[in-house]
Amino acid sequence: MRSSKLQELRRNGRSIRISGGTGFVGRALCGALRQVGYKVFVVSRTPEGPDMMTWSDVRRHGLPTNCKAVVNTAGENIFNVKKKWTEDFQQEVITSRLYTTSVLAKAINGAEKKPEAFVCMSGVGYYKPSQTAEYTEESPGGDFDFLSELSTNWEKCSELKPEAKEVRRVIIRSGIVLGRQGGVIRDMYFPFYFGVGGPVGSGQQFFPWIHINDIVGLILFAIENNKVKGVLNGVAPQAVTNREFATALGKAMWRPSLFPLPKFVLNVIFSPERAKIMTEGQKVIPKRALEYGFTYDYPDIDSACRACAHLTYTEHGIY
Ligand SMILES: NC(=O)c1ccc[n+]([C@@H]2O[C@H](COP(=O)([O-])OP(=O)(O)OC[C@H]3O[C@@H](n4cnc5c(N)ncnc54)[C@H](OP(=O)(O)O)[C@@H]3O)[C@@H](O)[C@H]2O)c1
Repeated sequence: MRSSKLQELRRNGRSIRISGGTGFVGRALCGALRQVGYKVFVVSRTPEGPDMMTWSDVRRHGLPTNCKAVVNTAGENIFNVKKKWTEDFQQEVITSRLYTTSVLAKAINGAEKKPEAFVCMSGVGYYKPSQTAEYTEESPGGDFDFLSELSTNWEKCSELKPEAKEVRRVIIRSGIVLGRQGGVIRDMYFPFYFGVGGPVGSGQQFFPWIHINDIVGLILFAIENNKVKGVLNGVAPQAVTNREFATALGKAMWRPSLFPLPKFVLNVIFSPERAKIMTEGQKVIPKRALEYGFTYDYPDIDSACRACAHLTYTEHGIY
């Protein structure tokens, strides 16, 4: 019997709890996990169907005994264009991450049979934007602005009690996720399609990125590889600037990328504090993922952009 078949049999019957499984990353992750034989249950504010549950279900009933891993990809979209950057919205951004992570950590602490892994998303906003610094997982950060403090507190909420010390806790500090179905590519697709796309501001700022298949692959790798624990920078090995990203996307779509989006426009729409995800950037190195032997489907920006360049797509991929 082929080893992949054996692996599939081992996965069958084991379940994974995913919060945020209705989102851009979560949906892709659910699909990938089901494909390799896991039963997937999504924790959601609005569950619809037998494989979904509410947050109060988790608080009340905890985790089942066959739960292999718990993954948190929940969090209010910081770039929600419909929401102004008010104190209320900032609080929603914070609570949606801290509350969800804490509920899952509590469920793991209280579980009779512990899952093997607890995988939590965080962001590269942990590291200070810079044109010169290079950041690995050991680099300092997490204490200089809204996004960095958000990452620190978010990661802290995933800490487990000593009685759950056998559970591997993995934190993925994700870069900007590239995929046709959501995130930044969905927002930028039509400006590029109509030939008016380009970099943000000067385009000199770094653009830490990862393709959706690779962030999903990294989460799966973290669930299944019993050596993996601690922080992983969830970025591709090729560091690029915002201009290099815009050029690659334009090339992949056979369009020019000559029209810069002025920084002040993003600052006005989103406020400088959150616009800095695009107007500033960090050079982030995925040192630990590479050391663990994780292999990327899309290690370079050209191949990643080519995979995102199609006009039509379905929930499950490209037509
Ligand atoms: N996409 C990126 O480029 C990127 C980069 C770095 C980090 N991340 C982080 O990775 C995670 C997943 O990203 P994503 O792009 O998949 O996000 P997304 O599409 O916005 O989905 C996140 C999910 O979180 C849940 N959620 C939203 N608001 C919530 C709230 N107020 N309270 C509780 N749950 C809420 C929703 O699930 P229900 O409606 O089912 O409850 C939603 O489907 C997020 O935490 C994000 O911050 C993403």
